[in-house]
Amino acid sequence: MRGAGTRTAKGRLDGKVAFVTGAAGGLGRSHIRRLAEEGADLVIVDICRPIDTVPYPLSTPAELTEAVSEAEALGRRVVARQSDVRDREALQAAFDTGLAEFGHIDVVVANAGIAPMLVQDRAEAWQDVIDVNLTGTFNTVEVAIPSMVAAGQGGSIVIISSTAGLAGIGGASNGGLGYAASKHGVVGLMRSYANNLAHDGIRVNSVHPTGVATRMIADPAILEFVAQDPSLSHEAPNALDVDTIEPVDVSNAVLWLASDEARYVTGVTLPVDAGFINRK
Ligand SMILES: NC(=O)c1ccc[n+]([C@@H]2O[C@H](COP(=O)([O-])OP(=O)(O)OC[C@H]3O[C@@H](n4cnc5c(N)ncnc54)[C@H](O)[C@@H]3O)[C@@H](O)[C@H]2O)c1
Repeated sequence: MRGAGTRTAKGRLDGKVAFVTGAAGGLGRSHIRRLAEEGADLVIVDICRPIDTVPYPLSTPAELTEAVSEAEALGRRVVARQSDVRDREALQAAFDTGLAEFGHIDVVVANAGIAPMLVQDRAEAWQDVIDVNLTGTFNTVEVAIPSMVAAGQGGSIVIISSTAGLAGIGGASNGGLGYAASKHGVVGLMRSYANNLAHDGIRVNSVHPTGVATRMIADPAILEFVAQDPSLSHEAPNALDVDTIEPVDVSNAVLWLASDEARYVTGVTLPVDAGFINRK
């Protein structure tokens, strides 16, 4: 029997190349698995080191290497670089290396993000989360646009936001306010890019997950933060009977938006949230 992630005979992304940020862990790792299973070659980046205000571990260089091996085992080609989405120059260099290798990049998944909702609040958490989640997303799209437009083949850009990009949740800490602001901010980017790039056949959408079982929300500091926040801590936050969804649930939405099945879908905020937003 086929599982949700089984490679089909004809891949839904055969012949395409995807650029994915934050790809060594959590959701990013799941996105690249799913995209690779459907035939995409990959250009992947991850910071692979901690950020001071983030209380849970970010990925390691060994995890980036593992991600490459996993995609290669699925028969895909991969270009991987340790790169921080805050550093436009380094990100452009990573993207350009992938572009030189494959000749075209058709899909962008701006996934890298942090959630520095510290119980011990810290002023610099605001700046860090805005820099990574908002400016990092801007950088990710900006480095990709020129070659996508020049290729004249259209493309798909998927921005990973959050339910905190659609509702006023995330708490009152510097990091929590910054998280909600950054995740709303990327919706503004998405809507503007969707209009600006439609003429070139490039579609731009955002995905808004509820809690997903990754390191980001499994850390004791985040669990304590959630327990203390009345907007998040009530017994069953989602309408459907599930506390946290799995990374593949989000990756399946990313895959669909990346594929030609969604060829007339652009400018959309797509919740993958088990009914969380509708229940608010
Ligand atoms: N887990 C959730 O509950 C949840 C819910 C809604 C939205 N999201 C969003 O999904 C995305 C992925 O989150 P996740 O749960 O997989 O978190 P995660 O911490 O498990 O993974 C994030 C990945 O991004 C990398 N990263 C962090 N900062 C980076 C930077 N500056 N440059 C490059 N790479 C960087 C990390 O090393 C890590 O590999 C984030 O944008 C997050 O805000 C997550």
